Amino acid sequence: MAVTASFLLCSILLIAGLLSAEPQQPQSPLITIFNGASTQQLDLIYELHKAEIIPTVLDEFIPQYTIDATWSEKKNITAAYGNTLPVSATQEAPKIKLTRNQNSQFVSNPRPQLTLIITDPDAPSRDNPEWSEVCHWIVTFPTSRAPTEPNVEIATEGEDVMPYKPPGPPPKTGKHRYVLVALAPLNQTTETLALTPPGERKRWGYERERTGLRRWMGEMGLGVVGANFIYEQDEEQ
Ligand SMILES: *[C@@H]1O[C@H](CO)[C@@H](O)[C@H](O)[C@H]1NC(C)=O
Ligand SMILES: *[C@@H]1O[C@H](CO)[C@@H](O)[C@H](O)[C@H]1NC(C)=O
Repeated sequence: MAVTASFLLCSILLIAGLLSAEPQQPQSPLITIFNGASTQQLDLIYELHKAEIIPTVLDEFIPQYTIDATWSEKKNITAAYGNTLPVSATQEAPKIKLTRNQNSQFVSNPRPQLTLIITDPDAPSRDNPEWSEVCHWIVTFPTSRAPTEPNVEIATEGEDVMPYKPPGPPPKTGKHRYVLVALAPLNQTTETLALTPPGERKRWGYERERTGLRRWMGEMGLGVVGANFIYEQDEEQ
């Protein structure tokens, strides 16, 4: 028993000594960011990489909120991290539910004003994204509705900043990714934000293709705290 204990202690000291003697290695950003993240959050990041939403639309981020988007409860039309939905089933804006994740130590402000957007990086097609991204929706949720406890849902009635435009992928343009992103103010303010809509839906009003959300949220002082996505395509391919 005593032998085991001192062996353990020696090992710990040895490892500690080795670690402190080593020059500081730059840690992989992934390891730094995801220390403490849940499996579910890592799955989301994996799916976003697989669909190339990271890096095309988003940078690496810490998922702090889960996004539930339901177009029809009865027909189970929901966003499920890369499922394919029929165009006809998403004509009206979905019901959005944002749930604060357990790793709330990352959020120092418990009541940020949350904003949800939907953007299409594949317009008119993934191979030819000259109109992209197309802004489909910006809806913001009053500060008082933000959840204060982990895993508390907010059944949200948001205020449109840019009204919902249903997905309408043109014929023969393949599958489009429709990316749902939850945003919170980077400076953690609890004040009500004055969000201005982008000038246009196409390229969110910017000049270059494949711009949109990143630039707009930069101008608004917002950062990514959650994501989800669906695929849709026209019946004619
Ligand atoms: C509803 O759809 C989701 C996403 O496709 C799926 O994971 C779930 O099993 C479905 N639920 C029912 C009751 O069919
Ligand atoms: C925090 O950011 C918001 C959104 O960009 C901005 O409106 C507000 O003035 C900022 N507040 C402070 C205290 O910096």
